[in-house]
Amino acid sequence: MRTLFGGDPLAAVELFPLSHPWAYAHLQQGKHNTWFPEEVPLGEDARDWERLTPEDRHAISLLLGFFNPMESLVTHNLILAIYPYVTAPEARLYLARQIWEEANHSLAFEYVLKTLPVDRKRIFSAHRDEPAIRAKEDFLQRLTEEILRSRPDLSTRAGRETLLENLVGYYIVLEGIFFYSGFLLALSFRRRNLLKGLASIIDWVIKDESLHLSFGLHLITGFLDEYPETLTPELGRELRGLILQAVELERRYSEALLPRPLLGVSAELVQAYVEYVADRRLEELGLGTEFGTPNPAKWLATELDLPEQVNFFEAINTGYEVAVPRG
Ligand SMILES: [Fe+2]
Ligand SMILES: [Fe+2]
Repeated sequence: MRTLFGGDPLAAVELFPLSHPWAYAHLQQGKHNTWFPEEVPLGEDARDWERLTPEDRHAISLLLGFFNPMESLVTHNLILAIYPYVTAPEARLYLARQIWEEANHSLAFEYVLKTLPVDRKRIFSAHRDEPAIRAKEDFLQRLTEEILRSRPDLSTRAGRETLLENLVGYYIVLEGIFFYSGFLLALSFRRRNLLKGLASIIDWVIKDESLHLSFGLHLITGFLDEYPETLTPELGRELRGLILQAVELERRYSEALLPRPLLGVSAELVQAYVEYVADRRLEELGLGTEFGTPNPAKWLATELDLPEQVNFFEAINTGYEVAVPRG
């Protein structure tokens, strides 16, 4: 039985027999999701852009201005912070797959920016100029910097906590909360029969991101199985604190994107959805819900087209199925 974490970082890949079949199942599922941005025509979206209100354009521009740099951040973090510590070959192969998918997402957003008549400069500088986006970026960058600065030693409590916070920050907060509010906003335009090409690209991104989130949940559970002494009530409170902080960052972000409601979507609605999603993530981590907010966008559950949430703690014990959490 090979450990997930803390093995020889330079060992050659010797895949079988698998010690962590769920990681291999994620890899197989990821391969089936392969797509390329140019498969989606965006000509009609470019014409739709002319029909959007200034408020619509503001919201979409800031949304793209957030997605774009986040794809790079998550890639940097996978390579610099996570890959060196995850040593099981089946998990490393999935990480390599995920890195490719994140690069593909960067290319997809480039393709959107190249095609739509948008203010590229404003979009590229939004993560520096818009305080609500900068705050989210700072939240994540701090977690990567902490790994680079302290080079966690997993034989120490401090080292294990630093790595666990990084895994929760990226897989649960970024990929499991921040992205989902963006999906809601982007897909709300398709309900108005607008930006359908962008929505198709988002559909593909969602397929990838749900697997990333699911993989992250398995990775975190695997980490706690290997280092059970890590999860103290105090650390549980800290992880909960990270998620609640993320919900607060989302509040400021939604208000910046949607100073006034658009047709069918408002800052309040996005925030209610963020609370609903954050509760699901807290549950998946076994931390207990906080908000009790019902899903205010039931239509999105259908658009996401994900299977009912399974108890991922059980899924890990019972086998090979990929448990995709529901947004
Ligand atoms: Fe991504
Ligand atoms: Fe991702």
